[in-house]
Amino acid sequence: MELVKAIEQRRTVRRFSSAPVAAESLKELARRAGLAPSINNSQPWKFIAVTRAEVIREMAAAVHQRVSQLFAGAEKENILRTVDHFSTVFEHAPAVLFVAARPYQAIADEIGSGETGHDALNAMRRHPDLQSVGAAVQNILLSATELGLGACWLSGLMVARPELEKVLGLEQPWELVTAIAIGTPESTPVPKQHPPVEQIFTLID
Ligand SMILES: Cc1cc2nc3c(=O)[nH]c(=O)nc-3n(C[C@H](O)[C@H](O)[C@H](O)COP(=O)(O)O)c2cc1C
Repeated sequence: MELVKAIEQRRTVRRFSSAPVAAESLKELARRAGLAPSINNSQPWKFIAVTRAEVIREMAAAVHQRVSQLFAGAEKENILRTVDHFSTVFEHAPAVLFVAARPYQAIADEIGSGETGHDALNAMRRHPDLQSVGAAVQNILLSATELGLGACWLSGLMVARPELEKVLGLEQPWELVTAIAIGTPESTPVPKQHPPVEQIFTLID
């Protein structure tokens, strides 16, 4: 598939058929994710695919529980239901690909301290560690499109990070950063509206 077609055809898919996703496809998505650019070429990631339905359900149950704890007492029931829904859309997905990352070594780490220390500089640079993971995830989403799969980037589930890390067997220095639900689309979602490029692009020449 032409790159531009994959970019134009990609959309978030939240409803999947019951068809399983081949382990080879998940491995190929991880391979392509690993080719993404990363801060200081740190390649700070690893990818863990879960296809076992009971493990996915167990994780979704942990997220339901955390959402209801975090928003206990919230008055707007309908909003709580929406938050819960979007945090657990992976519940019936045939596969979830989790992305874990470890801290990267910056070149400036050797000379920085205090307000130029690792964490301060990382924040000043607007979190290149997380941006690197974002680049890897976009490779996954576009590759899924190319392979005829649907995918949904998941951040809502991170409210239950400790519980999910435990199930995944992740230990320091590894931390769960994000996840992607993957499967065969049940239907083709309507594409989102996007403004014309003139509205989002400025050229300073
Ligand atoms: C960083 C990030 C986190 C997201 N987290 C969730 C999520 O937790 N649950 C969900 O249903 N969709 C999630 N999405 C999907 C967005 O809602 C979706 O990309 C957006 O509505 C635009 O739709 P499109 O992807 O079809 O263009 C996330 C997207 C991004 C980029």
